[in-house]
Amino acid sequence: MFYTKKQKELFNRIMKQINKNVENSSKENNKMKILSKKHPQTDTIKMIVLCALLMLFVSFKTTKNDDPIYLDPSKSVEARVADLMSRMTLEDKVYQMNQFVGLEHMKKGNPNDVKENNDAQGFYKTLSVNDVSKMCEEGKIGSFLHVLTAKEANYLQELALKSPLKIPVLIGIDAIHGNALVSGTTVYPSPIGLASTWNDDFLYTVGKQTAKEMRATGSHWTFTPNIDILRDPRWGRVGETFGEDPFMVGNMGASMIRGFQQDDFTGTEKVIACAKHMIGGGESINGLNAAPADISVRTLREVHLPPYKKAIDAGVYSIMAAHNEINGVPSHMSKWLMTDVLRNEWNFQGFYVSDWLDIERLNTLHHTAKDMKEASFLSVDAGMDMHMHGPKFTDAIIASVKEGKLSINRVNDACRKILTAKFKLGLFENRFVDLEKKKELLFTEEHKATALESARKGIVLLKNNGILPLQKTNSKKKIFVTGPNANNQSILGDWHAVQPDENVTTVYEGIKTLGETKGYAVNFFNSGENIRNIKSSKIKEASEKAKNADYAIVVVGDNSMRYKWKDKTAGENMARASLNLFGKQLDLVKAIKETGTPVIIVLVNGKPISEPWLEENIPAILESWEPGNLGGQAVAEVLFGEVNPSGKLPLTVARSVGQLRMIYNHKPSAYFHKYAYEKKTPLYPFGFGLSYTKYTYGEPVLSNASLSGKEKITVSVEVSNTGEFDGEEIAQLYIRDNVSSATRPVKELKGYKRVALKAGETKKVTFSLNAESLAFYDINMVYCVEPGKFTIMTGSSSNSKDLKKVILTVNNKIEL
Ligand code: BGC
Repeated sequence: MFYTKKQKELFNRIMKQINKNVENSSKENNKMKILSKKHPQTDTIKMIVLCALLMLFVSFKTTKNDDPIYLDPSKSVEARVADLMSRMTLEDKVYQMNQFVGLEHMKKGNPNDVKENNDAQGFYKTLSVNDVSKMCEEGKIGSFLHVLTAKEANYLQELALKSPLKIPVLIGIDAIHGNALVSGTTVYPSPIGLASTWNDDFLYTVGKQTAKEMRATGSHWTFTPNIDILRDPRWGRVGETFGEDPFMVGNMGASMIRGFQQDDFTGTEKVIACAKHMIGGGESINGLNAAPADISVRTLREVHLPPYKKAIDAGVYSIMAAHNEINGVPSHMSKWLMTDVLRNEWNFQGFYVSDWLDIERLNTLHHTAKDMKEASFLSVDAGMDMHMHGPKFTDAIIASVKEGKLSINRVNDACRKILTAKFKLGLFENRFVDLEKKKELLFTEEHKATALESARKGIVLLKNNGILPLQKTNSKKKIFVTGPNANNQSILGDWHAVQPDENVTTVYEGIKTLGETKGYAVNFFNSGENIRNIKSSKIKEASEKAKNADYAIVVVGDNSMRYKWKDKTAGENMARASLNLFGKQLDLVKAIKETGTPVIIVLVNGKPISEPWLEENIPAILESWEPGNLGGQAVAEVLFGEVNPSGKLPLTVARSVGQLRMIYNHKPSAYFHKYAYEKKTPLYPFGFGLSYTKYTYGEPVLSNASLSGKEKITVSVEVSNTGEFDGEEIAQLYIRDNVSSATRPVKELKGYKRVALKAGETKKVTFSLNAESLAFYDINMVYCVEPGKFTIMTGSSSNSKDLKKVILTVNNKIEL
């Protein structure tokens, strides 16, 4: 029985009170000697009140019956949400809009100050772990983030189950390339490595598999994909992105969302995705995370916003606002973005979440709100639905509604969306995870295979003078491996927790295992893992040891391991004012090169390294990005030719920081003039990547030389493998609007295909184009295709010398 006991108690209490009141009034009356011992009206009043109460009770029993609709899984999600919300007070609804960090995370907040009732100073000055647990038990918390074990997830759900309405908590985590913050999971290559595969299918599969591993460990909501457009490689978060091209970022984000959510995420193996960070953080004014972005509405509409349109069309159910202000308005209070464009223009159906304490920062950082109350109001009024994270938000919102300042509709909308997610995810029926079964679901053979395959295909060969692939040997040749990233978990990138050693193949381990089967003796020297502090003595020692080797493989790059915050040179909140190899890494490489031993560079990094010296002096350079659990195996397979490298750069690598902003899709006047002492070409162009074989391209052929409306045309091109290795080539299609009312980029990617070609084989690759591919915002900001000629280019990279052209004519203006 659900309400009966409570209702009975309530009923009895009211009856007692009535009797008491009636008694009191009788006494008074007696005293006044106005009425007789038994007041004649008293019974009538008693009867009327009794009848009214009974009617109320009966109707209460019928609507809020013993088997509430919201607890009945056979009812529709809409009906369940409506029923549940009809039982909720304003306060209950606002609690759903609030998030807290996990209890274990809180404990780590200030490890030196873990006292009873005071163990959360690091995060919530006023609240202890016990307080937060109690709040959860009282139904005062809608969501948690960073709950790193299934055990804790179950514990939190147990607390929530004790709450009056028993609403489960929604648990979110940054599972950006696998559920890597949880130990024992599959860690796929960082998003920038996945993007280098130029294969959207990987993103789908990684999303789908990650969702399973998340649900197995109690999380339901991933704060990814990061669909920020990269425009400044100083930014530490490049590794989290899919690079610099809006078309590609949008496609990959949408595929990953589809993988995570599997249509509408109804079920127990799916999770909610979160497109982030809205908007412009990849183009901050100084390359620093959270710094202001000042970007024209045209550039927002043409470059930064299109991936959000694709994410919404793919059904993304949450979107995170960005730390940064955009054109003077902090993203967290931008009604234009949250409500006007994404919600009203593009019909976003999901909910918005704030980024880490950014509602607070409307007051403390941006100074656009005088206190947390005003900040909360501004954000929710602009469209925000959930607060990440902490205690100050709910009171502020409740007060704003009570004062009539904030519309209750905003709270209802937010609460409805969040509850809808909880019902669809099956949390009311399946809130607990099976701790035993969990083990079978993590780091499975199937998931490992995806991690390995995506690492193999995302590795980019930047230079090779013929030294690679390393050939099988019978003479026990020696390979010397060293460098800060050679033998540790830096290959797992940002947003990972330490993984069991046995789940990780480091670069050295990969080379040793495969190298020995190829007849090599492989030795490793630890030259120091802290990139910020490489000792000269270690450099000397490394070069001594390299002398006797036949090859030296030096593994350098960046470090974005968040649990080694002080050693980091990249990753969240760690931008760099330079783009070259950090610290003494180049000294290490030079010292080894001076021994005369041929050097092969393996880069392990999330953001591009601009080091022209390497390109000029080193015979082979492999960009492995942060290739994940089995990254070392993938690197070794490429080095020894088991795998023919096929990855291509999803970003431009500038020669120096002074060349920034350097992007392939720049405007026509960008390089009209020169730099005094710097080239105006990049070190490596967007779309570039070498192979052990050679590909040649035919001329692009259009199915129709002109376009008049919304019809599709195809562009086909023959690609031949004219070398000696089987391989996979990534064919690319770019367009250029030759004459337009407002300026257009010199090239825009509009198609890419990975095609497997055996040595000697030729295949026809076909791309489709339509009006949408050619559209832009004209001089009046009308989204359309202007009549005139478009250059269609196909080839192996964005470099003009790698592209062949054909002209497509648009006959008339096409409005979309
Ligand atoms: C990051 C977000 C992330 C959140 C939760 C923030 O600092 O900017 O991308 O999802 O933390 O971990």
